[in-house]
Amino acid sequence: GFKELVFSGMQPTGNLHLGNYLGALQRFIGLQDSYECIYCVVDQHSITAQLVHDDLAEQTRQIAAAYLAAGLDPKKSIIFNQARVPQHTELAWYFNCVARIGWMNRMTQFKDKAGKDRENASLGLLAYPSLMAADILVYRATHVPVGEDQKQHLELARDIAQKFNNDFSARIADLGYGVEMEVGEERVNGFFPVTEPLIGGAAPRVMSLRDGTKKMSKSDPSDLSRINLKDDADAIAKKIKKAKTDPEALPSEVEGLAGRPEAENLVGIYAALAEKSREEVISEFGGQQFSAFKPALAELAVAKLSPITSEMNRICEDREHVDAVLRDGGERAGAIAEGTMKMVREIIGF
Ligand code: ADP
Ligand code: NA
Repeated sequence: GFKELVFSGMQPTGNLHLGNYLGALQRFIGLQDSYECIYCVVDQHSITAQLVHDDLAEQTRQIAAAYLAAGLDPKKSIIFNQARVPQHTELAWYFNCVARIGWMNRMTQFKDKAGKDRENASLGLLAYPSLMAADILVYRATHVPVGEDQKQHLELARDIAQKFNNDFSARIADLGYGVEMEVGEERVNGFFPVTEPLIGGAAPRVMSLRDGTKKMSKSDPSDLSRINLKDDADAIAKKIKKAKTDPEALPSEVEGLAGRPEAENLVGIYAALAEKSREEVISEFGGQQFSAFKPALAELAVAKLSPITSEMNRICEDREHVDAVLRDGGERAGAIAEGTMKMVREIIGF
């Protein structure tokens, strides 16, 4: 089998929100003690939607600082930015030739981000999941912690790995590069692992505070819809107070949350922040009104997030330190990536 390895990434936008934190970042921390982990700031992804940025390097430092502030330890995990390791884009090109246009056209994120004028979206936006597959597979990562919104992209990465393994099966066998693995019930042999998504926790999909049917997102025009990591205590309390809810009290059983998306979202957020189950939260707050639950949630959110934000700001001021972490991480990541690419080039026949 493949050595167990965790990979994940976040785009460089300083505007991290609670969804990014609970769906991804908070979960990265828990994994670094039990797995070898590689955490990337995926700066090359950020030019797919908007080509010109004035402050890409600074935004990248901010995400690296968020990683460090949240508790990632560069001695335990590799922390770096994508642009430092050109093997990602090399592998992405090969994957562009493995993947089919129809696979990309089906991606709901592409449809959302491209909007109505699809013909005018960048080719990079369409091919985004191919670069994401390369990010993961250039390390032959076995596990990827992400929010639920990334599930479809992870499935595509699995399809790309399997198609590469099948298309090149004879050459992989000739070169002796095949690795035995279990995929579902089957034992198969291949060069790339069929990576498992790690989607979970109490809040795998954090919803907007204004609309329980939409995910919390940095692109939502309403700032009241999301809690930003940079919000101060007053802003967090205000947004939670104004969060849309129904008029009922919290149910006395978790099952009572079904069909109540706003209540379910707030309970999930509380549970994830407290690192408890939804059941435990309901046994504590069941039967109470939102007017009692919301202040408790706000207090918890401030207690969890504000130390991270102040640490993030502190770390960000020391640019040289952040750059040194990224440089060192880039060297370590690059060595692993080049090891994979030497074999990939041979398999393809260059
Ligand atoms: P965004 O989705 O905000 O544009 P990224 O694509 O960089 O940002 O996502 C970073 C991580 O945050 C991914 O693992 C993604 O699944 C997760 N994430 C983003 N929004 C949410 C959300 N509302 N709930 C849970 N996880 C989320
Ligand atoms: Na996303």
